[in-house]
This record gives sequence, structure tokens and C-alpha cells, in this order.
Amino acid sequence: MTTFGHRESLHYDRRATRLLTGLYRRISADVDTTAAPGATVLDLGTGPGKLLAHIATRRPDLTLHGLDLSPHMIDIARHNLTDHRTELTVGDVTDLPYPDASIDLIVSSLSMHEWPDLTAAFSEIHRVLRPGATATVYDFRFARTREIRHSAGRIDRENIRLPWYPVALVTRYRLHTA
Ligand SMILES: C[S@@+](CC[C@H](N)C(=O)[O-])C[C@H]1O[C@@H](n2cnc3c(N)ncnc32)[C@H](O)[C@@H]1O
Repeated sequence: MTTFGHRESLHYDRRATRLLTGLYRRISADVDTTAAPGATVLDLGTGPGKLLAHIATRRPDLTLHGLDLSPHMIDIARHNLTDHRTELTVGDVTDLPYPDASIDLIVSSLSMHEWPDLTAAFSEIHRVLRPGATATVYDFRFARTREIRHSAGRIDRENIRLPWYPVALVTRYRLHTA
């Protein structure tokens, strides 16, 4: 069950706008260099959709999808993304409502630490990615570091320092499908 009810989602939306803009900029710059023209990109645990808004502004050619467990977050994301053609869905990362091999790039920010079953989540990520596609998952640096190696298979990790903080607080996990 989601911890983001109506009030928590509104509160997060206001806070995220102020504190996480540097992270959204960094991830959308990564998407800009990774996504091929016209690619289909999925944001897992999209919350209020702020990352998708940054990606849409940089890359209007992409087809964007956002998924979140919380219907309240998805309502806010719909409000935040009115100008953009983005498909938003209430759903669980362990049971993705997308066909096999249908997504070119998956991103996720600060959500993985809440996923109930990492093995099921990464199995679904592998299923929906096209062969040769990439998933990049950004989360707090020390969140589930060991568990992710067991669950995700071969995965590269890099600690990310954002401009506003002197040490790296976020880790980027990157996996490629065969
Ligand atoms: C801390 S918020 C991060 C939101 C957004 N990615 C951001 O960076 O602003 C974590 C989000 O992950 C979502 N979430 C948690 N578990 C999930 C799951 N199993 N499936 C889909 N979304 C999930 C929560 O509902 C919440 O919106």
C-alpha cells in the first residue's frame, strides 16, 4: 500500500519543486544524451511528474509514460503535466501494465527504496525494455545497495554529486538489456 495519500502527495509536490530541481535537471540531461530520437521513455514512481516535465521540455520528440502506485500522486502529475503529451498510470513496479519489449529507456528517481520486492520489479523492468535498451535508477546513496545486486543482475553504479551539496548523496544504477 502507498504511503503517499492526498496530503502527503501535495506536501511532497511543493517540497520536491524546491529541493530536487538540481536532480531533475541532472537526470533529464542524462536522458537527453541517452534517448534516441522519438524514443519511448518510462518514469517509474514518477510521483508529481516533475522529472517528466523537465524531460518533456528538453526533448519534445519523446513519447513519455509515468507510473506511480499512488493515485493522489498521479492526480498531481496530471495537473503538473497539462502542457505535455504524457501518459500517466496508477500501477505497481512489480506488475507493469506495458507489453513486453515496448520501452526504450526507463528512468526512476528516489522511488526504488520503497519498492516492496526488488526481484519482481527488476524482472518487470527487463520484460518491458526492448533488447539493447537501458534502465537508469537514481536513489539515495545507501538505499538497498546489496539487495539491488542480487535482484537486478549485472548493473553499473555511480555516485552522483549535485551542485548544491558537497558530497554525493545519490547513486545512479544503470542496467542494459542484452
Ligand atoms: C519519494 S517519491 C519520488 C517521486 C519522484 N520520482 C521524484 O523524484 O520526485 C517516491 C514515489 O515512489 C512511488 N512508489 C513507491 N512504491 C511504488 C511501487 N511499488 N510502484 C510504483 N510506484 C511506487 C510512491 O508512490 C512515490 O510517489
